[in-house]
Amino acid sequence: MRAAVHRQAHPGELVVVTDRIMLKRLAALVTYRKFMKDAAAVVVVVGDADNKHAVEDCVAATENILPASFAHGVGSCWVAGYNQDYNAACARLLGIPAEKEIFSFISFGYYGTLPRAPAKRPVEDIIRWERY
Ligand SMILES: Cc1cc2nc3c(=O)[nH]c(=O)nc-3n(C[C@H](O)[C@H](O)[C@H](O)COP(=O)(O)O)c2cc1C
Repeated sequence: MRAAVHRQAHPGELVVVTDRIMLKRLAALVTYRKFMKDAAAVVVVVGDADNKHAVEDCVAATENILPASFAHGVGSCWVAGYNQDYNAACARLLGIPAEKEIFSFISFGYYGTLPRAPAKRPVEDIIRWERY
């Protein structure tokens, strides 16, 4: 299912990287995920820098892609891309034009064993009724 988009402006685009050398270069730039070098693919979610809803639209798209990949038996990991120091270098590497901004990277691969889901903050702790 395609993610919700503000006013159908569609500011987001996906750069699919499968080339092994490019994946290695990307992994060398991105601080917290050297595993990207071994990924089957990395999708870079980019959006129009001058669209004030691009961050919401691109994050919504990122979040939709994760369960979709899981449903197809493919593991994925959201790797931070919003406001990151390494984004400019990644954009240069991938030829992403200056008017686009990177919002996330999603790394894909097949998992050997399904990892255990981490414990979440309890729902009753998160929900406030009527007023905060
Ligand atoms: C905004 C955001 C940024 C993340 N950045 C990274 C990252 O840079 N490197 C990484 O290995 N995982 C990153 N993750 C993945 C999380 O650390 C976590 O492994 C993942 O969300 C799965 O756990 P969960 O099911 O509890 O969300 C990020 C997740 C989010 C939502």
